[in-house]
Amino acid sequence: MKTLLPGKDEQKEISKAIFSIVVPRPIAWISTVSKEGVVNLAPFSFFNAVTTKPPIIMVSIGKRKDGTLKDTDRNIRETGEFVVNFVSKEFLEKMHLSGKDYPPNESEAEILNVPTEPSKIVLPPKVKGVPAALECKLKEIVEIGDTPMSLIFGEVVAIHFEEELLETSKGIVGRLGGKRYTIIDNEIDLSNL
Ligand SMILES: Cc1cc2nc3c(=O)[nH]c(=O)nc-3n(C[C@H](O)[C@H](O)[C@H](O)COP(=O)(O)O)c2cc1C
Repeated sequence: MKTLLPGKDEQKEISKAIFSIVVPRPIAWISTVSKEGVVNLAPFSFFNAVTTKPPIIMVSIGKRKDGTLKDTDRNIRETGEFVVNFVSKEFLEKMHLSGKDYPPNESEAEILNVPTEPSKIVLPPKVKGVPAALECKLKEIVEIGDTPMSLIFGEVVAIHFEEELLETSKGIVGRLGGKRYTIIDNEIDLSNL
């Protein structure tokens, strides 16, 4: 078994190991709106729920190579609102492509032909047809790490979901190492133990 020592071994190897070991990661496909009104859509897998009362989620967003904020990060700081969309197989490729760098004045939702519909409480729209979406308001941002990453905490103000998700998570997409993904297609229920 291989051992890496952060700070000693090459950063590229450390990152690759973390990306490949901490799996599967849930994917927050985040919609935001810029001050100018452009809808932005981008995926983030350093994402999870941290509390349920009230429901709070976190997402960790890095800076661009030139040190500037990614559009999602900037829009959340400027407007205080975002929507976390959950991805099913039919959206997998579009979600992946929305992770490429598009200029701030161009909407990934429009370019990639991703249908959206109004949210209930926040201004950013949700993706139409996803199995679940969380409308969020910015709670707190913690700068962490050497980049540094923006660790964004959002309070969930509306939860939309297909009710069958309460019985089965089949069909939800998760992120693996590299450019690999998984689609939940097998579950083990231990509720009898
Ligand atoms: C599945 C997937 C997961 C990603 N996870 C993250 C992440 O957790 N944090 C991050 O900073 N970038 C992540 N990225 C890269 C961003 O999506 C990418 O930088 C994107 O261009 C940001 O878009 P924006 O500038 O519109 O916000 C991920 C990309 C993909 C395809």
